[in-house]
Amino acid sequence: MKDKDRRKAQKPAGKSGFGEKTAAAKRPSARGPVQPRRQGEAGHPPARAEQAEKRAETVEKVFLALREGARPAERVPVILETGGSESFRLIDSGNGEKLEQYGPYRIVRPEAQALWPKSLPEHVWQKADAIFTGDTDEDGMGRWRFPREALGETWPLSLLGVDFLGRFTAFRHVGVFPEQLAHWRWMKDEIDRAGRPLKVLNLFGYTGVASLVAAAAGAEVTHVDASKKAIGWARENQALSRLDRAPIRWICDDAMKFVQREVRRGSRYDIILTDPPKFGRGTNGEVWHLFEHLPLMLDQCREILAPRARGLVLTAYSIRASFYSMHELMRETMRGRGGVVESGELVIREAGLDGETPGRALSTSLFSRWVPE
Ligand SMILES: C[S@@+](CC[C@H](N)C(=O)[O-])C[C@H]1O[C@@H](n2cnc3c(N)ncnc32)[C@H](O)[C@@H]1O
Repeated sequence: MKDKDRRKAQKPAGKSGFGEKTAAAKRPSARGPVQPRRQGEAGHPPARAEQAEKRAETVEKVFLALREGARPAERVPVILETGGSESFRLIDSGNGEKLEQYGPYRIVRPEAQALWPKSLPEHVWQKADAIFTGDTDEDGMGRWRFPREALGETWPLSLLGVDFLGRFTAFRHVGVFPEQLAHWRWMKDEIDRAGRPLKVLNLFGYTGVASLVAAAAGAEVTHVDASKKAIGWARENQALSRLDRAPIRWICDDAMKFVQREVRRGSRYDIILTDPPKFGRGTNGEVWHLFEHLPLMLDQCREILAPRARGLVLTAYSIRASFYSMHELMRETMRGRGGVVESGELVIREAGLDGETPGRALSTSLFSRWVPE
């Protein structure tokens, strides 16, 4: 369905979240300084025509179509579990904390979901290499303490054959979200068995591990993130993985704006991963608010799925919602495309000190995934 036809079924923009204009860049910034202007795709300054296109899109209104046709079949609940792997394992959790192994380092971080008692004695936890102290909110600021010896900011890690850097960040994150391994394994299998080079779009791609896993498996990858710093880290990871010549476009842009531009260009992707935060900022201060913008974002993703697409994968974390919220939105969005929507949670299973003693399951995020069969 072309944009023009889709608007026949449009609803006006309103507070319901089922309609949104893209003029966020024109609104005054509600908080904090506006982020630097976008530098252009893959580090090149944007051409004049593209600049004009971008000016135009800040005033264009895009409405959300009501999709027609049957909803896809459903598979619920699906719990995708990540256990131990060569570079990562959840050793123990409890009393609002988790103890993880990332390569050579044992790390303690706050974990609000861990309501149960710890399994391992306190002296084991006290031997950690790095402990995050500070705001217990997800994404809250804090600092790292290194009880054994001072550590550098980064260290080498490897997952699914891709080398990258672990990183102690001020927001408690360590440069990778290992629960995503379940999606990355699925994606790698799809790419391996496709028998043709798949096009993968990784929205909100952060340090690029998913993009590198896809590229290493032979896909053509487009990676989008609004943070210049994150794109820089992703490029460092690309070099570390010896994938410098792999076909990856690194795009520093607002994810919603980028997807809308791709709709206008008629671009198509075989696999789309989208892992949006609850709140975020685009490169020109555009506001991303998951509960307001997700319906339109998913709809635009559907629009750019190739006819023989292999999947659309949504993950959501740190939000007050059930996986059914993601699930029913995905099924409405994918009306008329057949296939199956499977939804549930991504969990990490404790693996103990030896990496082989399964313990409690720690829920990390909600997901919903459309697949063609
Ligand atoms: C939690 S990370 C995603 C993690 C990633 N999927 C992974 O597994 O490595 C969220 C990312 O969204 C980016 N972001 C936030 N708002 C954005 C926006 N409006 N457009 C594009 N990226 C945005 C942040 O810079 C951050 O890198």
